[in-house]
Amino acid sequence: EKMPLSLEINGKAYQLSVEPRVTLLDLLREQLNLTGTKKGCDHGQCGACTVHVNGQRINSCLTLAVMQEGKKITTIEGLAQGDTLHPVQEAFIKHDGFQCGYCTPGQIMSAVACIREGHAGSPEEIREFMSGNICRCGAYDNIVAAITEVKQ
Ligand code: FES
Repeated sequence: EKMPLSLEINGKAYQLSVEPRVTLLDLLREQLNLTGTKKGCDHGQCGACTVHVNGQRINSCLTLAVMQEGKKITTIEGLAQGDTLHPVQEAFIKHDGFQCGYCTPGQIMSAVACIREGHAGSPEEIREFMSGNICRCGAYDNIVAAITEVKQ
């Protein structure tokens, strides 16, 4: 049986009807067509599904949509301001912080949290904070370079 769910996503209010077993990731991708957030492992291992809930990053595959009542969600679609990319998005482009790009939305959402929460003080600190975001292409050096540039 579906449950009512009110929440805000990327600054827009939604009144939804959601099955209790649906994850936040599946709500975003399948019910709302916000497919920027990626499904890699669906088990909390890869970080491709990273979004922000009330400013904190989470793996959206590990949380149920109905637990987000009243919360503010930000996805990769919500980072740019109109045609102006977020500085972290610009830095990923400039430093080639991706190859295939599949992990990139999650990497960028974690990178924004990394900088905002003050964990970008050194390459080691960045790597530690970003360690839950797996990149199979191995773009880690470039991701660290992108984050390092933005936090300055
Ligand atoms: Fe959520 Fe991999 S899809 S951590």
